[in-house]
Amino acid sequence: MKAVLISNPGNIELVERDIPEIKSRDEVLLKVRLAGICGSDMHIYHGTSPVATYPRIIGHEFVGEVVEKGKEVKNLKIGDKVVVEPIIYCGKCYPCRKGRPNVCENLKVMGVHVDGGFQEYVVVKDANVHKFADYLSWEEAVMIEPFTIAAQATWRGGVEKDDFVLIIGAGPIGLTILQYAKYKGAICIVSDIVDFRLEKALELGADYAIKASENIEKEIRKITGGMGVNIAIDAACTPKTFEMAVNVVSQAGRVVVLGFDTSPSSIPQFNITKGELTICGSRLQTNKFKEVIDVFNKRKLNPTALISHKFHFTEIKEAINLLEEGNQNVFKVILEF
Ligand SMILES: NC(=O)c1ccc[n+]([C@@H]2O[C@H](COP(=O)([O-])OP(=O)(O)OC[C@H]3O[C@@H](n4cnc5c(N)ncnc54)[C@H](O)[C@@H]3O)[C@@H](O)[C@H]2O)c1
Ligand SMILES: [Zn+2]
Ligand SMILES: [Zn+2]
Repeated sequence: MKAVLISNPGNIELVERDIPEIKSRDEVLLKVRLAGICGSDMHIYHGTSPVATYPRIIGHEFVGEVVEKGKEVKNLKIGDKVVVEPIIYCGKCYPCRKGRPNVCENLKVMGVHVDGGFQEYVVVKDANVHKFADYLSWEEAVMIEPFTIAAQATWRGGVEKDDFVLIIGAGPIGLTILQYAKYKGAICIVSDIVDFRLEKALELGADYAIKASENIEKEIRKITGGMGVNIAIDAACTPKTFEMAVNVVSQAGRVVVLGFDTSPSSIPQFNITKGELTICGSRLQTNKFKEVIDVFNKRKLNPTALISHKFHFTEIKEAINLLEEGNQNVFKVILEF
């Protein structure tokens, strides 16, 4: 079989590998069907991921079919359509004991710290595998993992019906968050610097789409009758957008950050104290697969609207080149296996 390997930063290649074998009773062998390319895969390719190790078979957004299973695997059968939850945690450290295994001290993410899903076959523990309804297409299902990020971010921000939510950045992550916040009944304002992406946000249900500018804080105060948004979710992830997010939330508001930028933002403590703001990070997801699969099975979202391009996995270099061009009409790029 073939696999997509990043041997070291800047070097991506197709390599020949043996089909992996089941070694313990709780493992399953999957035939990978579709996988999504994520911003973090691009970081691993560029050598700018602070956590990845090399050589690495990348890919953490993937779906496939069960083709073989270990003796103790009871809840899955051959032919089941499944999505992989790509996190491996210790279960013992403080965050694990607190029910937050996504930030385990010994966290390993498939495709980042250990080999991932950009290969024709993969062996995973049954605990990492979730079944979805047969009637969902592979294209719909490959978006389950990105939507778990949105489920997490809206949960961290405590998004509820009729809350005003600002989503900064209308890239694939911002637009999944938009859809999930709308599903939860929020009033959503999306900002971006690119008109095309704002149009996409409106198509996907945004109540307001505003161009990021110096006046954005005023515009947000106007829309919310002076109150500010109850939750600001920063999916543009720059030091400046984080500062802006803190400035536009209401009293008792929440700010959710998703970025990996290491440069500092300048944020005075007064606003945080005055409004008792909550500022929190959101990373990957905690127990969100079942919830998101349920929403997908009920077809409450429009996941395929975010898929803009599809390649065969042997065309990985073409797919990477397309993403490198930074074209504004490129959203989620998926690979067929
Ligand atoms: N924490 C997590 O679990 C997690 C998971 C996946 C991705 N991420 C992060 O989420 C971020 C977004 O991912 P993506 O794939 O959507 O990226 P993307 O680059 O496609 O989207 C970012 C969007 O922000 C817009 N933008 C840039 N500056 C802006 C500004 N000043 N105001 C408003 N919008 C602005 C861009 O035009 C773009 O549309 C990345 O930084 C990524 O690392 C975090
Ligand atoms: Zn991803
Ligand atoms: Zn742990």
